[in-house]
Amino acid sequence: MAAPLVDADYMRQVDRARRLLRALISSKGCAPIMLRLAWHDAGTYDVNTKTGGANGSIRYEEEYTHGSNAGLKIAIDLLEPIKAKNPKITYADLYQLAGVVAVEVTGGPTVEFLPGRRDSSVCPREGRLPDAKRGAPHLRDIFYRMGLTDKDIVALSGGHTLGRAHAERSGFEGAWTQEPLKFDNSYFLELLKGESEGLLKLPTDKALLEDPGFRRYVELYARDEDAFFKDYAESHKKLSELGFTPRSSGPASTKSDLSTGAVLAQSAVGVAVAAAVVIVSYLYEASKKSK
Ligand code: HEM
Repeated sequence: MAAPLVDADYMRQVDRARRLLRALISSKGCAPIMLRLAWHDAGTYDVNTKTGGANGSIRYEEEYTHGSNAGLKIAIDLLEPIKAKNPKITYADLYQLAGVVAVEVTGGPTVEFLPGRRDSSVCPREGRLPDAKRGAPHLRDIFYRMGLTDKDIVALSGGHTLGRAHAERSGFEGAWTQEPLKFDNSYFLELLKGESEGLLKLPTDKALLEDPGFRRYVELYARDEDAFFKDYAESHKKLSELGFTPRSSGPASTKSDLSTGAVLAQSAVGVAVAAAVVIVSYLYEASKKSK
């Protein structure tokens, strides 16, 4: 069994890295590419073979030169100084923390971040990330392989509220929203508006409108930003933990049963002690009076 990765010093470095990331991402306006880096590291996960996932392998040339990762070397390089100052943190944790901070500093929901991902030097074969030129069945193939659901697909696609496509990277050009550095539900509002104002719509974006199973979430998130933020935060956390089981969280029910049990046990002890104190002091007073 490997030694625990996360100790008090690791947590201190995570806190420091989080502050440095906030400063870097807000001063450079690089939230979109940080979010894309986090997603492309995690999104290679295969739930059947338990390979790929949020393991930092995208830092290797073999992987960042995959066609779908064009441009991401910029984000990898921007993060190197933060890794150098906080050497305990794994690349896997640092990339996911960068994605979480990118959403936070652009006004999006808080995504819970639990550290402890281990780095891998095994790069997945090219072709595990979605192809923007394809449709709904392809999106399902790719995201179901990660172990994610229709709701996750639509909520996470809302990540395109940030950033833009670059012709020299993906062959597509332009932003999805009017304010690509603001995290809100405008991706869904623009999608429902149809072709408009020169904003970008990938074939995979259009697939979210055409497929009824996806469209109901598009409509929900367009009319209810709170619902989008809540679902996005949950789906992003799932994405950020693909291939990683945080040490602190066992199976959810056992954990909550245990902690409820522990709390009850503590309260029971507390009540018993309090009762004993009352009884003893009553007996003491009574014995004084009877003397
Ligand atoms: C659903 C399938 C998806 C497809 C087909 C897709 C495709 C693309 C493409 C083609 C680009 C343009 C890259 C460039 O030219 O620079 C892009 C950018 C981006 N993607 Fe996605 N994406 C998908 C899902 C996601 C998810 C799940 C997230 C995050 C939660 C995400 C976050 C981003 C961000 C933030 C950018 C902007 C990057 C920048 O401005 O440099 N994408 N995506």
